[in-house]
Amino acid sequence: MTVIGTGYLGATHAACMAELGFEVLGVDTNAQRIEELSRGELPFHEPDLPDLLRKHVASGKLRFTTSIQEAAEFGDVHFIAVGTPQRAGENAADMQYVDAAIVSLAGAIRKDALIVGKSTVPVGSSRRLKGLIREVSHPSANIDFAWNPEFLREGFAVQDTLRPDRLVVGTDSTSADQKLRQVYADALSRKTPFISTDFETAELVKVAANAFLATKISFINAFSEVVEVVGGDIRTLADAIGHDARIGRRFLNAGVGFGGGCLPKDIRALQARVSELGLDHTMQFLNEVDEINLRRRERVVHLVTEELGVLSGKSIAILGSAFKPNSDDVRDSPALDIAAKLFNSGADVRIYDPKANKNAAIRFPRLTYCDSLQEVMEDADIGVLLTEWDEFRMMKPTDFNLKVRQKNIVDGRNVLNPQEWRDAGWRFSALGHRPETL
Ligand code: NAD
Ligand code: UGA
Repeated sequence: MTVIGTGYLGATHAACMAELGFEVLGVDTNAQRIEELSRGELPFHEPDLPDLLRKHVASGKLRFTTSIQEAAEFGDVHFIAVGTPQRAGENAADMQYVDAAIVSLAGAIRKDALIVGKSTVPVGSSRRLKGLIREVSHPSANIDFAWNPEFLREGFAVQDTLRPDRLVVGTDSTSADQKLRQVYADALSRKTPFISTDFETAELVKVAANAFLATKISFINAFSEVVEVVGGDIRTLADAIGHDARIGRRFLNAGVGFGGGCLPKDIRALQARVSELGLDHTMQFLNEVDEINLRRRERVVHLVTEELGVLSGKSIAILGSAFKPNSDDVRDSPALDIAAKLFNSGADVRIYDPKANKNAAIRFPRLTYCDSLQEVMEDADIGVLLTEWDEFRMMKPTDFNLKVRQKNIVDGRNVLNPQEWRDAGWRFSALGHRPETL
């Protein structure tokens, strides 16, 4: 099989398919990425993936190329895993990479093959792409088509791919359905639900899942805004409602909110798509979900400003730049956004992230990047925890007593114990808590 697009999704899918025993060819237009992957080097951080990549590059089961021609000749099943980022200046998804990948691949195929879309796309895309395939395909090709959205989480990508909690396939072809059941035979042998449906449902399942997760996060963050005024404890509130099995505790962690390459752009693309369909009001609540989320970032800037007074000349230690722990992905990262806002307000902003410094520095080269937690906290006027890496969750107030300029910490992810820090003489603030009075 082939996997077209070898980013966070595609590289993981390719290595996991090799692990399941398939001969896999990964394809990307980014030649540097293909060179690195061919050497068995993963160009991003994802737990467990480096081992799988090395193992299957060494065994010869997993190869990489920039040639779509080679892919068309090699593959029986082709997975499309290219990006669908937010279009510049708009909410809609940019489909140019999916269209280009499918048109070039379908035009080059000269045999029986199955093309399977995995990227997250606006509803209606599969049917349109199926028409495109028909237009460009050669008479000697017989191309089947399905959409099989992906639900993996960064940080758990290998586990989620090898042990998915469900498989969703949208197609109007029985043979495509049958072939995908063979591809996923391992998961099916473990009774993983296999939801076989039409194109539109498959596309909507994907965006509905991400919209629901985003809504859950903004729901608890809206309560944070209330608690910050009336007092109370947001973690206890989340725990208490989470005990209700109908609600569930997961994705109710209040803090600086959601970022990354998916949730933010997917809720915007969904709104844009339903508006195009004439349903202007239907997904309007997602606008509110987005706004609540973005307000959390402003809130941290406000909190830090209240704590320090003028920001100019103050040294701010930012703990974390990745959009979440166990990832080096800084796409739409709340942490990096807040760091940039503080920098633009005149503060001396120093950042440490265990894995994402390199990507963060590409995006914001003017911030100062540190190599350790101790280094970033040195002479800081305030520490601001924005990505809940274990290293930060485990830190103790006594780790920094002699280093910092002021004992002042902001917990943007609600993972520290307020009493422990206050008992050690620190000022402690967190999202979802009423601020301490000065
Ligand atoms: P990414 O930006 O990390 O990777 C996309 C890759 O596609 C890049 O390496 C790019 O060079 C390559 N590409 C672009 N055009 C190409 C072409 N014509 N031919 C070959 N390669 C091409 O993106 P990602 O995070 O892997 O996401 C990919 C898609 O999967 C998106 O639609 C995303 O919403 C969806 N998705 C991502 C995740 C995730 O955790 N990252 C999870 C589920 C779904
Ligand atoms: C998300 C979904 O969880 C995946 O199922 C989906 O496949 C993927 O998007 C996608 O479509 O690409 P991911 O972006 O890797 O996965 O990360 P999540 O674990 O969902 O976290 C997203 C953001 O929400 C992070 O910034 C995280 O810090 C934040 N978050 C998460 C909270 O603020 N609170 C929570 O309780 C949970």
